[in-house]
Amino acid sequence: MIAADETLQAKHARYVLTPWTPSGGPPAPVIVRGEGIYLYDADGKRYTDLTSGLISTNLGHGHPAVRAAMHAQVDRLCFGPPNWFNDVRAELAEELIRLTQWGDDGGRAFFTVGGASANEDAIKFARAVTGRTKILTAYRSFHGSGSGSATLTGENRRWFNEPNTVIPGVVHFWASFPYRSPFFATDPEEETRRALQHLADVIAAENPAQVAAILIEPVVGTNGVIVHSPGYLAGVRALCDHHGILLILDEVMTGFGRTGAAFAGERFGVVPDMITFAKGVTSAYVPLGGVLLRERFARTFDDRPVPAGHTYSGHTLAMATGLATVRAYRDENIYDRVTSGIEPRLRAGLERLRDKHEIIGDVRGIGAFFALEFVRDRKTRTPLIPWQGTALGPMATLSAALKKHGAYAFLRYNILPIAPPLIITDDQIDETIAIVDTAVSELADAVTAQR
Ligand SMILES: Cc1ncc(COP(=O)(O)O)c(C=O)c1O
Repeated sequence: MIAADETLQAKHARYVLTPWTPSGGPPAPVIVRGEGIYLYDADGKRYTDLTSGLISTNLGHGHPAVRAAMHAQVDRLCFGPPNWFNDVRAELAEELIRLTQWGDDGGRAFFTVGGASANEDAIKFARAVTGRTKILTAYRSFHGSGSGSATLTGENRRWFNEPNTVIPGVVHFWASFPYRSPFFATDPEEETRRALQHLADVIAAENPAQVAAILIEPVVGTNGVIVHSPGYLAGVRALCDHHGILLILDEVMTGFGRTGAAFAGERFGVVPDMITFAKGVTSAYVPLGGVLLRERFARTFDDRPVPAGHTYSGHTLAMATGLATVRAYRDENIYDRVTSGIEPRLRAGLERLRDKHEIIGDVRGIGAFFALEFVRDRKTRTPLIPWQGTALGPMATLSAALKKHGAYAFLRYNILPIAPPLIITDDQIDETIAIVDTAVSELADAVTAQR
């Protein structure tokens, strides 16, 4: 008998182009249902959603209050264009501004359809506000795949746009990376000092009077779940203040509880001038992104047109979904649960795995946003497979083993992110660590067998 998954897999492979991957890769389970932290394929097999989809399904699948709000909005009004005023849009904008650290100063929200468009619009706002043109972003960053957002991106997914579809005025710098210091630092404090000196040098070399904004992920996401060295982000803020440069935090991945606060800037004590968001704002149930602008900068657009617009800006169904989602985070105390419950248990469990498996070079993370980095040799830190290389090699074994044992994750080169939905229970964390343990054992055996 042919399994349901097999025929659907064949259809998917035949008709769907999957982002960033060549067609003809290994078949994947066909996911047809989700509930809480679990996914189910067409044959009924269950998987833990180890990376919340693309670090986005923060409330898990099928949250009842969000589903109810979506149903209610479908029955009331599915679409009101952005040039109309609308009840749920007003409510969500207010809720989002209340989540920032801007206090009485406040701010305003501009809605987009995802993270890439949010970043592209944010840099337009920064250029309009400052009258300057240059934008600084980090290497080892991802900010989206449109021309503007891909230009901001500091890794190989930008290369697809080069040379013809990049935008002018974007300059890259190296940010801190404690495990693989670009500055040959030997401790985190030295890393912070050298990384900030490097950034100061880049600003000086680019002419500070021409730099509109620094746009940075407060925790680097798909480039390795990198938590910056202590004080680094505060130092970036200070450099921005010194030169009149705007600080834009790309909170597309880190927002809405992923690091244990509404926005990661709060977790690190850094107040940005703009925040870009997407993903967790609706727990990814419908597409939505946006830019939050501090009031003193938003005022620029009191007597000048906002230099961006989309048919689906502030889409009614997305607004209702986002409103129910951010209220669920608050009502269920999700942000505190991440810091007090999930973070310590996940960290301890993953550190136990590092102590057990030589192949794990580093465990790092914050909140419910962790990663295992795999190495050939712990002393030299040689990556198990090259970063930005072409072959998955033994990491394909890990991916297959995870699926076999009931966990679904996306991997990037030698890194496995561990970022489950923020509703995960203690027992489910333990169960998840056990699955990862078994899969890593199979990876280690496969690597040993190859030697
Ligand atoms: C930090 C960051 N910024 C921006 C984006 C782009 O968001 P979107 O895929 O919604 O365009 C992503 C996507 O993963 C991201 O991780």
